[in-house]
Amino acid sequence: AGHPLVTDDATRSTARSALITALRGGTPDRRPVWFMRQAGRSLPEYRQLREGISMLDSCLQPELASEITLQPVRRHDVDAGIFFSDIVIPLRLAEVGVDIVPGVGPVLDAPVRTAADVAALPELTEESLEPIREAVRLTVAELGSTPLIGFAGAPFTLAAYMVEGKPSRDHLGPRTMMHAEPDTWNALASWAARASGHFLRAQIEAGASAGQLFDSWAGSLSLGDYLTHVQPHSAAAFAQVADLAGPDGVPLIHFGTGTSEILPAMRDAGASAVGVDYRLPLDEAHRRLTATPGADGRGAVPLQGNIDPALLEAGWDVLEAHVRGVIEAGSVAPGHVLNLGHGVPPHTDPTVLTRVVELIHSVAP
Ligand code: CP3
Repeated sequence: AGHPLVTDDATRSTARSALITALRGGTPDRRPVWFMRQAGRSLPEYRQLREGISMLDSCLQPELASEITLQPVRRHDVDAGIFFSDIVIPLRLAEVGVDIVPGVGPVLDAPVRTAADVAALPELTEESLEPIREAVRLTVAELGSTPLIGFAGAPFTLAAYMVEGKPSRDHLGPRTMMHAEPDTWNALASWAARASGHFLRAQIEAGASAGQLFDSWAGSLSLGDYLTHVQPHSAAAFAQVADLAGPDGVPLIHFGTGTSEILPAMRDAGASAVGVDYRLPLDEAHRRLTATPGADGRGAVPLQGNIDPALLEAGWDVLEAHVRGVIEAGSVAPGHVLNLGHGVPPHTDPTVLTRVVELIHSVAP
């Protein structure tokens, strides 16, 4: 409340951008591309700005977060900025003890494992989000007609860090909890959905033109567990911004890795587009979505992806052939946004990313 909404096309200069056009199923004037983790350690200018300041602290300094968001847009001519922040920022803002340990990932002071732990979680306040809104406002003013993508962690991926207290491979803690203590799980995932939904809403209200929910670890779930224990919470996170979305509103992308079996269920959580990792060719992803329409009748939706990050280092000829294959496979979908199948690896040569962008823009849409 009290924040001016800038979600209608008349006030948004990004409505005709390649990204937004493709995400609405139209034909853009060039093929849109951006990279998950495009801001980060692959860029020397990022490493320089981050010297002496921790990851989460840098996210809460609006000028710094904005400048880091803009760096890859200037360098690579990508079709969107991705807001520089982290899925655990809502925890930090709610004063849950968390840090990001370099080379490890998010680590909590105390894991959240019991009903009492969940009940003790503080709610994220509207005021605490002000540094986020300020960073978005500064960034959008600089980006002009290039869209900014806001994001949040999906409830499962965020809760997985909270239950384990640190990164894990198999996510046994949260997967056990949803069966052994479903009430505790539902309370925790509801908290995470509120925090993430609130975080995403703040970015869209401050001017982000699209949103992405990252359920990076959803691929560790069976379809049955996803539908019963996770999809309702992801839907609750999307529902917090649904009034800003819709056909002329902000497109919402839903991404995870290892999600070949749950793509239709991810669409049905309330996404306008689905992000696909490198494991499934986009024409097959499209076929699966088309074959399994949702209760609302939607089958095919715009797709995002899915260049294999491993091929960034495979030599230009191999990479070029791969990128051209991704473009061809993606052309069957009602819209296609090029991206990697997961984030930019930290040691990536950034000149290769610039060349990939040039290649994609050279292929007529
Ligand atoms: O360009 C961008 O994508 C920037 C914004 C961004 C970051 N994290 C910055 C970041 C986004 C969208 C995220 C999301 C995020 N954070 C996810 C979902 C996406 C994914 O990668 O699956 C997850 C799971 C996290 C949690 C997290 N934060 C991890 C696993 C790590 C890596 C830890 C490490 O050092 O290996 C982080 C830290 C992090 N988030 C960095 C960046 C640029 C690296 C920190 C640094 O540069 O020191």
